[in-house]
Amino acid sequence: MSDTTIESILHEQRLFQPAPEFSQGATVNSLAAYEELYAKAAADPAAFWGELAQQELHWFKPWKQVLDWSNPPFAKWFDGGKINISYNCLDRHLTTDRRNKPALVWEGEPGDSRTLTYFELHQEVCQMANTLLKLGVVKGDRVAIYMPMIPEAATAMLACARIGAVHTVIFGGFSAEAVRDRLNAGEVKLVITADGGWRKDAIVPLKLQVDNAIADSACPSVAKILVVQRTKQETAMVANRDHWWHEEQATASTDCPAAELDAEDLLFILYTSGSTGKPKGVVHTTGGYNLYTHMTTKWIFDIKDSDVYWCTADVGWITGHSYIVYGPLSNGATTVMYEGAPRPSNPGCFWDVIEKYKVTIFYTAPTAIRTFIKMGEEIPNTRDMSSLRLLGTVGEPINPEAWMWYHRVIGKERCPIVDTWWQTETGGIMITPLPGAIATKPGSATRPFPGIIADVVDLDGQPVPRNTGGYLVVRHPWPGMMRTVYGEPDRFCTTYWEHIAPIDGKYLYFAGDGARQDEDGYFWVMGRIDDVINVSGHRLGTMEVESALVSHPAVAEAAVVGKPDDLKGEEIVAFITLEHTFTASDALIKELKQHVGKEIGAIARPGDIRFTDSLPKTRSGKIMRRLLRTIAAGEEITGDTSTLEDRSVLDRLRQDT
Ligand code: PRX
Repeated sequence: MSDTTIESILHEQRLFQPAPEFSQGATVNSLAAYEELYAKAAADPAAFWGELAQQELHWFKPWKQVLDWSNPPFAKWFDGGKINISYNCLDRHLTTDRRNKPALVWEGEPGDSRTLTYFELHQEVCQMANTLLKLGVVKGDRVAIYMPMIPEAATAMLACARIGAVHTVIFGGFSAEAVRDRLNAGEVKLVITADGGWRKDAIVPLKLQVDNAIADSACPSVAKILVVQRTKQETAMVANRDHWWHEEQATASTDCPAAELDAEDLLFILYTSGSTGKPKGVVHTTGGYNLYTHMTTKWIFDIKDSDVYWCTADVGWITGHSYIVYGPLSNGATTVMYEGAPRPSNPGCFWDVIEKYKVTIFYTAPTAIRTFIKMGEEIPNTRDMSSLRLLGTVGEPINPEAWMWYHRVIGKERCPIVDTWWQTETGGIMITPLPGAIATKPGSATRPFPGIIADVVDLDGQPVPRNTGGYLVVRHPWPGMMRTVYGEPDRFCTTYWEHIAPIDGKYLYFAGDGARQDEDGYFWVMGRIDDVINVSGHRLGTMEVESALVSHPAVAEAAVVGKPDDLKGEEIVAFITLEHTFTASDALIKELKQHVGKEIGAIARPGDIRFTDSLPKTRSGKIMRRLLRTIAAGEEITGDTSTLEDRSVLDRLRQDT
């Protein structure tokens, strides 16, 4: 067989046209409208983004140049312009009907809730910004935010942005060690945290974790800690270093003018794992990020003033930054924030939130959807979710079976699904359907957002033929792109821009994902290139094999990795959790192998199938295939496992194998 197996293994043919009722009301309401926008952006990207920046955002001072790409891969967008994203997310709405509209609707655990209007959120942000100033934070200082999913997490981000401090949000599920690394990497001056946070019916003592992280002068840059009272448990406070937010708030002024920042001033650093090395500090700046998250939210989620929008991500990840906080608020939307997480004791919690707040737009991850599939559709079926009008997914490829379940059970076959491909590095969504314009295919993120020149190429940067696997790249800079790796500009160049050498001086952004484009130009993202398995010279995405496995009624979840094999190069190993009504057996192994053979082809049949009660996942729900690869190969696990949600899974997997 040739090196083009992707074509034969993916045979999804279903096509779902946007419902006319949806298209009629949509901002981008037809394929022709999308294509017109796309062509306009491609013809003159600077004119396209410049026009939108002027129309959609408030600027204190206009820019001199939309894009300066004279020193690639270091881009400058809207250079010379003065802007403040906190102003765009708050102040400008106060002079409109949105002043008393809910900005942030929070559903907390256990049973707490709170709604802040734009007016109220603005007041709190000003108070926190004034508190930061009082505690010695100045423009350019790094402030870490290590918080549970509570409104103050968003307040803290916006307060930093207001005064030009650079925030670095550290996911609340990270350990003290991980916090320490990030505080030191960013030379953080002040940490905003909470006494505790609720996680799966228990309290995580976040402030104590910060104390542990910085104990023994391990983080010399940290001078102050601002502590939000959330769980009210006993919390040790160090005089002159630690300050309670509620005490500061009581005397803080609600007046704090937004600083006039340069468009290229740093907005935030977000640490993200690569396939190798320590986490990278992805840097995003103010003006371009504001515009890109604003436009993507506006067109992809088709945000209207009447919408209640809910993204289930954690603010500790880029999705929370761009699509809980900045994108929705810049658009004046009502954004829902939820502190809980689905768990066996509360399997209907997501649907309860939708019912309670009449959520209209719901954005979640495929891993969550698969969890719900496992719990059974009776649970969502008993809730009233008729308010929903649009669904989204993010974070990993969605297998067609999960897509169809989402479409049928949650969307009741009337809500479009936007499968959004993007990364921490891209700042915002890159490849996605526009829901009123682009017909969807289960499992495909469909087409690039206007202004995004995406392509699938080989390692020489040459486009591969349609329906052939290759490397996903972006050919032209875009406003939301990361600007560098914090403190490591060389790493920025080597990781993203040098895998494929510039052709005629033109740089290609290397996403690290494998993809193919089908005959309609639709993108099918196969996952990280390090997750692509090569069996006898044939490339297979782990995702396709997993999809095939999951389409068997016995399989709840499947993770597929490659294992070195003398003969074939690599052999496929599948780790499988079963639906509760099935039991593991040799006969089932045989049946599953045959099933994959039937779904894809003999080449994709796993050589080895192992049953397990759970899979190793990061706290954001991604399966850690790296660990499975090590286990499959029978090797010792080395390297960072700090992002693993439940370490005991590893021991069980090792015992099983
Ligand atoms: O492999 C792609 C996958 O997630 C990676 C980016 O991860 P992260 O920076 O953590 O950001 C996650 C949220 C944007 C990508 O390189 N990925 C993300 N969305 C999709 C996806 N893979 C396929 N389809 C998607 N919709």
